Amino acid sequence: MNPYPQVLFKNRRPGETILLPEYEKTGGYLGLRAALKMSPEEVCNLVKGSGLRGRGGAGFPTGLKWSFFPADQPGDKYLVCNGDEMEPGTYKDCQLLLADPHQLVEGMAIAAYALQTSVGYIFLRYAYEECSQRVERAIAEATAAGYLGRHILGTGFDVELHVHRSAGRYILGEETALLNGLEGRRPNPRSKPPFPAQRGLFSRPTNVNNVETLANVPHILTHGKLWFQELALNVESAGTKLFGLSGHLNCNECFELPLGITLREVVEDFGGGVRGGKKFKACLPGGASTPYLTAEHLDLMMDFDPLEEVESRLGTAGVTVFDENTCMVAVTRNLNQFFARESCGWCTPCRDGLATISWLLDQIENGQGTEDHLAMLHGQVRNIKGRSFCALAEGAMGPVEALLRLFEDEIKDHIRKGCCPFV
Ligand SMILES: Cc1cc2nc3c(=O)[nH]c(=O)nc-3n(C[C@H](O)[C@H](O)[C@H](O)COP(=O)(O)O)c2cc1C
Ligand code: SF4
Repeated sequence: MNPYPQVLFKNRRPGETILLPEYEKTGGYLGLRAALKMSPEEVCNLVKGSGLRGRGGAGFPTGLKWSFFPADQPGDKYLVCNGDEMEPGTYKDCQLLLADPHQLVEGMAIAAYALQTSVGYIFLRYAYEECSQRVERAIAEATAAGYLGRHILGTGFDVELHVHRSAGRYILGEETALLNGLEGRRPNPRSKPPFPAQRGLFSRPTNVNNVETLANVPHILTHGKLWFQELALNVESAGTKLFGLSGHLNCNECFELPLGITLREVVEDFGGGVRGGKKFKACLPGGASTPYLTAEHLDLMMDFDPLEEVESRLGTAGVTVFDENTCMVAVTRNLNQFFARESCGWCTPCRDGLATISWLLDQIENGQGTEDHLAMLHGQVRNIKGRSFCALAEGAMGPVEALLRLFEDEIKDHIRKGCCPFV
């Protein structure tokens, strides 16, 4: 039993989707009604004051992002929801959309009003066909009820939403690659500036937010910013977070928990502890691109700033746990193979560097590694950091750097013994 307040998962029942009548009965679309009685600037300010930070990985303050958007600019402007969710270890947006998709629809209608955009696209992972269908049904229900379409709820504001199924590569989650993908182009990231808010989809101002970020917005409009702030256990933070657990745990599930909960509570109380009574060795705290945490971090608060203070990141809060028998060289090789395969190939440090790191880790894991290989690994990380065109390569360096910082002894053990000490 989860003792913490449930906001995004309050209606969640295994295998079911909440349809419009039940969503309305549990307070659905009250947030939109409240927003439409306010000015767009007031809605932006409320979201800014709530302390909501982006749930897509970077934790950028949502209201601040909205305040940069040229809502007054005439002509077409777009709102895009990022539901690409292809980072290994991350599956929380999928759980949210399967259970209660109207939260996203309502959140997008409110965001569209705040930003004065009349067209929104929901970009979903190609494998999420069930989610796509449930979101499309929610859009149809909301349109029939007057929450979407022309003159919503009798106001002069129009908004339409469309679902777009991704072509299926990890790079499509990078927001500018996503915009190219939406336009039907090859999904190479675009240079920034200009940022999407200035020149985004079809060269028009565009705001991109994650599924979970947008789904929080109706609740902030309904209950207010103080209520939202008090949901977090960390007084410097705000809201709940969806934590998707995986790896060597007894219970790999997705839980809604307050920001600021400790890693120990996540692992022991919700994950049911490490499988087979083994010891906790390490975890990825928020998806495949986040630097490892170890047992010394178990009492840390799972939140944006506290994890940055220990050179890691909350990322998407997709927590993957590794037990004491896990070879961290093998784990890092596996993660890096994913990033190398998903590199779009546009810039050399990423295209060649990730492939070289994969080869080096493979040599070390297979017992053919030398001290020179270790030195080359350090060199490759230096060559990639800050020199790649988008954040894919930078993210790929998260686990590699953490391996070098936290598990160098393990690498040296492979080199000394000429084999993997864990097999
Ligand atoms: C390679 C890569 C993949 C990404 N994948 C996702 C994703 O699947 N979903 C997501 O919301 N953000 C993803 N992001 C982050 C987005 O570019 C963007 O920052 C985010 O959608 C902004 O939303 P937020 O401010 O609400 O978090 C990814 C970034 C990179 C570099
Ligand atoms: S960093 Fe990698 S994914 Fe990003 S543009 Fe360069 S090659 Fe493409």
